[in-house]
Amino acid sequence: MILSATARLAGVLGWPVAHSRSPRLHGFWLERHRIDGAYLPLPVRPERFADAVRSLRDLGFQGANVTIPHKEAAFAVCDEVDATASRAGAVNTLVFRADGAIAGSNTDGWGFLEGLRQALPGLRLAGMPATLLGAGGASRAIAAALLDAGCPRVALVNRTRARAEALAAALGGPVQAAGWDEAADLLPATRLLVNTTSLGMKGTPSPDLPLARLPDDAIVADIVYVPRITGLLAAAAARGLATMGGLPMLLHQARPGFRAWFGVEPQVDDALARFVAGDVPETAEAA
Ligand code: ATR
Repeated sequence: MILSATARLAGVLGWPVAHSRSPRLHGFWLERHRIDGAYLPLPVRPERFADAVRSLRDLGFQGANVTIPHKEAAFAVCDEVDATASRAGAVNTLVFRADGAIAGSNTDGWGFLEGLRQALPGLRLAGMPATLLGAGGASRAIAAALLDAGCPRVALVNRTRARAEALAAALGGPVQAAGWDEAADLLPATRLLVNTTSLGMKGTPSPDLPLARLPDDAIVADIVYVPRITGLLAAAAARGLATMGGLPMLLHQARPGFRAWFGVEPQVDDALARFVAGDVPETAEAA
């Protein structure tokens, strides 16, 4: 790749950042559209984060993605944030405006929903009570997106029940908090079950739930994408349920940033999924 002197630049800020698939994902789109631009991994220590963001802006970058552990700090460094970021209290996409303002948005929840809609066309969230495992940043973003999309009830199940209670209060609306011991009893009334914890990642044990108690038309999703088929997804598929892994959310959350920085609306399709999944092991045994 040879850049011109007017190449557009973006990247992903994380600490560490070596695990991120975002450079591979954006690199695929840059090549596909023959764009004069680059997307770089940007490892930045937490204590240097705000200065690093302002430096990127001053260096003429178009913007950046933000990943663990910087999403709350990114929210704080922004001059303006959109409604979703405001509700999530976290930012994953930064755009540097021509006047120097730093604008933040959070596309994680939107990306999750877009993935679901693409995988299951005709999906009607208005009729789908959801149960989310976990009460961290990912849970918050997905819960907010589900509520905005008309989901009638969201239950937040968390190891630390108090954290689920705090998140339920912050989100407002038809949200209930529960501990792990209550999870099994929530399943019969759950149409969408989402694991937002790190359980199941890279060979760690998957959440242990009696999936037989879910309705036959329930959907089970996992935001873990290494491995591609987590223990939870394998168990759900064995139970005959529709499933979605973590990869679609990763691919779709990237679209708004790419469009803002490089001026092209990118598509999520099989070629992209195969390319990004190409270096992700399929099962826990292979991870
Ligand atoms: P993220 O921003 O990626 O969502 P996070 O804010 O660190 O990450 O949240 C991690 C979530 O995974 C939390 O809900 C956490 O539960 P606690 O609030 O009780 O810590 C959950 N989690 C992580 N490891 C877990 C484990 N071994 N068992 C159960 N829940 C776990």
